[in-house]
Amino acid sequence: MNKISEKNIVLTADRPTGRLHIGHYAGSLKGRVALQNSGKFDEIFIMIADAQALTDNAAAPDKVRANVTEVVLDYLACGLDPDKSTLFIQSQIPELTELAFYYMNLVTVARLKRNPTVKAEIQARNFKDDIPVGFFTYPISQTADITAFDATVVPVGGDQLPMLEQAREIVRSFNSVYGETLAEPKELLPDNAACARLPGIDGRAKMSKSLGNCIYLADSADEIRTKVMNMYTDPNHLRLDDKGDTKDNPVFIYLTAFSNDGHFERYLSEYENLDALKAHYERGGLGDVKVKKFLNDVLQEVLAPVRARREEWAKHVPDAYEILRLGGVKAKAAAAKTLGRVRSALRIDYFSDK
Ligand code: TRP
Repeated sequence: MNKISEKNIVLTADRPTGRLHIGHYAGSLKGRVALQNSGKFDEIFIMIADAQALTDNAAAPDKVRANVTEVVLDYLACGLDPDKSTLFIQSQIPELTELAFYYMNLVTVARLKRNPTVKAEIQARNFKDDIPVGFFTYPISQTADITAFDATVVPVGGDQLPMLEQAREIVRSFNSVYGETLAEPKELLPDNAACARLPGIDGRAKMSKSLGNCIYLADSADEIRTKVMNMYTDPNHLRLDDKGDTKDNPVFIYLTAFSNDGHFERYLSEYENLDALKAHYERGGLGDVKVKKFLNDVLQEVLAPVRARREEWAKHVPDAYEILRLGGVKAKAAAAKTLGRVRSALRIDYFSDK
C-alpha cells in the first residue's frame, strides 16, 4: 500500500471571485514566493479554488471562470514559478470531491455551525438558514484539498485558523477510526502582523472587492496614486500641528507592511526609518499629504514589476492555461494516491484485492 508522504509539502489556495489585491500580496502571495524560493519544501501546491467559489456563486459560473484567468495572471505576476510550484484548478481534480464526501461522515452539523469562519461568512453574506449546503460544508472540502496532497504546511491568513483546526480534527478522527491514513496539517501565518490583514483604503477592517476599498495588483500607476491620495487616515488629525494616530491609520499600516529603510533613503531621506516618521506624526507637525506621497512612492516601486509581469502574461493567456493544465495532471496524480489509501482504509477497494 502507498504511504503518507514524508516530504515537506505545502498547499494553499484562493477563491477566484475577483482580482487579487495588495492585501493578498502582503498577507500571502509574497510569503508564498519566499517559501517557493527558500528551497525548504519538496512540493508546493497552489490551487485556484473554483469549486469552492461556486459554493456561494452558484448562479455566476461565468464570473468564476473569468476570475480563474485573473488569479493565474496575478500568481504569475507575483513571481510564482511553475517550475517550482504546482499551480492548478480545483475542479480538475475530482478526487477532492470524493474525499470530501467520505469526510462528511466524520463531521456533525453542530460542529460546522460552531466554526467561527463559517459563522462570520454566513453573517457577512446574510445567509441565515438559506445557506447552500455546499457552502456550509466548505471546511470539509477544504480538508480534502489539504489532505489530498499530504500537505503539512498550509499558509493562511488569521481568519482561516478555525478551518485548520477543523481540518486537524477530521484528520485525527479519520486516522483513529480507519488507521493512520492522512497527514496532519499546520498553519503558517505571515510573520509581519501588519501584513496578516490589511484594512481597506477607506479604513474599514478588511480590504474586499464588495466594499470597493482595494488596491489591485492590476491597478495602473495612476489608479494607485489616486487611491493612495484619497486614503482614510486619522480623522482627528485635522491640522498639521495636531497629534496623529499611527496604529489604526491605514496609511501607516500599509507602510508597516510594505516599506523598508531603502525606501526612506530613496524617497524620504529626512527620516531614517518608519519609527522616526511615526514618532513625528504622533507628536504633531507632519501632514497626511507628505506621508501619502511617500506611501505612493513605496507602492509604485513594489507594484511596478508585478504589473509589468502581469501585462506580459496577459498577452499569453493560453500559456498560463497550459501551466494550469500541466499542474492539474501532477496534482491529480498526487490526489489519486491519497484517495487510493482512503479507499482501502474505508474497505471499498473491492477490486484491488489479490
Ligand atoms: N478558503 C480559502 C480562501 O478563501 C481558499 C481555500 C480553498 C484554501 N481550499 C483551501 C486555503 C485549502 C487553504 C487550504 O482563501
